[in-house]
Amino acid sequence: MQTEVSKRNMDVSGKVAIVTGGSRGIGESIAKALAEHGAKVVVASRKLEGLETVASAIKEAGGEAAAITCHAGKEDEIERLVAQTVERYGQVDILVNNAATNPYFGPLMRIEMPAWDKTFEVNTKGYFLMARAVAQHLIGREAPGSIVNVASIAGMGAAPFQAVYGMSKAAVISMTQTLSAELGGTGIRVNAIAPGLVETKFAGALLQNPQAIKRMEAGSPVRRIGQPDDIAGLALFLASDASNFITGQTIVADGGSRGR
Ligand SMILES: NC(=O)c1ccc[n+]([C@@H]2O[C@H](COP(=O)([O-])OP(=O)(O)OC[C@H]3O[C@@H](n4cnc5c(N)ncnc54)[C@H](OP(=O)(O)O)[C@@H]3O)[C@@H](O)[C@H]2O)c1
Repeated sequence: MQTEVSKRNMDVSGKVAIVTGGSRGIGESIAKALAEHGAKVVVASRKLEGLETVASAIKEAGGEAAAITCHAGKEDEIERLVAQTVERYGQVDILVNNAATNPYFGPLMRIEMPAWDKTFEVNTKGYFLMARAVAQHLIGREAPGSIVNVASIAGMGAAPFQAVYGMSKAAVISMTQTLSAELGGTGIRVNAIAPGLVETKFAGALLQNPQAIKRMEAGSPVRRIGQPDDIAGLALFLASDASNFITGQTIVADGGSRGR
C-alpha cells in the first residue's frame, strides 16, 4: 500500500528547477539537494566559473545540471534565463529565488540612494521578475509549480545596520503572500524561507566579528550558527509535493534564535 503521504515525498524527479545565486553558499546547497532528489537543475548567477564548478559537481554525483549566467536584477537577462532553461530541458517547474545583495552595512540614516536602488533591484524587483517569468511559463503549460523565495529574518523585524536589506526582504515576504493568493488557483505555490545567520560569503561582515558570533552561538537554542545545508532541506521540502498544502508561508530557519 502507498499512502498519499508517501506518494508526496521529497522526490522531485522529472522536474526542472532554476536556482538563482546557485554558484555558492545557500544556493549551491539547495541546487545540490534538488539534483540529488531527481530534479534537473539550472544554476544561475553573474559569474560563469562558480556556476560551472557547481554544475560539474552535480553531474559527477550522477545528477543533471546546467550553468547559465544571469544578473538577477535585469529583466532581459531573466527572460533569457527562463527561455534558455525551457530550450534546454523543455520546462521549468521549480524556481528558487535566492540571489541577493547587501551593498551597505551601516546606519539607515546614512544610506546612499545608489545602494538603496541596487538592493531593491536585485532582492525585490529581481525576485518578482523571476517569479513572474516562471509563473507565466507554468500558466502557459497549465502545469503546477513551486516558487521558493529565500528571504531573511532581517525582513521580519528591526534590522540595525542592514535596514534596506531588511526592507527588501520584508517586501519579498509580502510578495510571497500576494503571489500565493493570486496564483493559488493555477496550482502554483509560493513560499518563503527566512534564514538566520548562515556561514557564507554573504555574511562576511558579521562573521568577521568573532565575539559577536560567540554571543550569537551562546544565545542560540542549538548553540551554533547555520550552515547552507541547514536551509537546503527546507527548500527541497517547499519545492516538492511533500508540501502540497503549504503556500503563502514564510518559514524561519534560524536554529530557534528569533523566538528567544
Ligand atoms: N548568509 C546568511 O547569513 C543569510 C541569512 C539570511 C538570508 N540569506 C539569504 O540567502 C540567500 C543566499 O545568500 P548566501 O548567504 O548563500 O550568499 P553567497 O554565498 O554570497 O551567495 C550569493 C549568490 O548570489 C549570486 N549573486 C549575487 N548578486 C547577484 C546578482 N546581481 N545577480 C545574480 N546573482 C547574484 C552570487 O553569485 P555571483 O557573484 O556569480 O553573481 C552567489 O551565487 C540570499 O538571498 C540572502 O539574502 C543569507
